[in-house]
Amino acid sequence: MPSNDSATGKFITVEGGEGAGKTSNLAFIREFLEGQGLEVVFTREPGGTALGEELRELLLGHEHDGMSSDAELLLMFAARAEHVAAVIKPALARGAWVLCDRFTDATYAYQGGGRGLDRRRIADLEQWVQGDLRPDLTLLLDLPVAQGLERAGRRSEPDRFEREQMGFFERVRAAYLGLAREHPERMRVVDASLALARVQSQLAEQLAAFCAEVET
Ligand SMILES: Nc1ncnc2c1ncn2[C@@H]1O[C@H](COP(=O)(O)OP(=O)(O)OP(=O)(O)O)[C@@H](O)[C@H]1O
Ligand SMILES: [Mg+2]
Repeated sequence: MPSNDSATGKFITVEGGEGAGKTSNLAFIREFLEGQGLEVVFTREPGGTALGEELRELLLGHEHDGMSSDAELLLMFAARAEHVAAVIKPALARGAWVLCDRFTDATYAYQGGGRGLDRRRIADLEQWVQGDLRPDLTLLLDLPVAQGLERAGRRSEPDRFEREQMGFFERVRAAYLGLAREHPERMRVVDASLALARVQSQLAEQLAAFCAEVET
């Protein structure tokens, strides 16, 4: 059942490794939800606020290539604290649905799986910054690492994460799949290796099932 019971809106996150198609599919998901007559607030992490977008530039850009893993983790949660307080909680409280491109599962996957940080530290920060707030539905776009990197590489210059080695991305993928096994109540794995239309039909199926569950 959705964990975010105190709010009337629902919180949906989209996760996956580099080039999985998160950003490409967000407009589709938004249209699906708006087609159900829902107000949707569309946002992303790191970012989603003026402060968060500045932190995003620091995190993804190359000005601070050697930043420590702890600094990276804390900046992610600094951006998230602002985002939760200024955007996500107010939207949910007024009954809007929030659709977010990456959230805390990405921190478990990248800073936990990828960088090897102790997940208890991440869990402590999650509790501090979010309290009981967790996504009600997380759509995990999963595909082989090489395929995702190939897609991402065609798109733009590599950011600070995209420059990592294959082993890093394999750990990220494994961490995401581990999270999906740990949280079957909210996480749905979508095969993102397929053509866009087939990815979107899986997304539509999951969203229809979720909306039906919420209504009952
Ligand atoms: N199912 C698909 N089949 C083929 N190409 C795709 C598919 N989905 C997305 N793409 C292409 O792959 C590239 C990466 O997609 P997108 O930017 O949506 O991924 P992302 O998950 O948001 O990546 P990042 O983690 O870097 O933000 C884009 O050029 C996009 O057009
Ligand atoms: Mg993206």
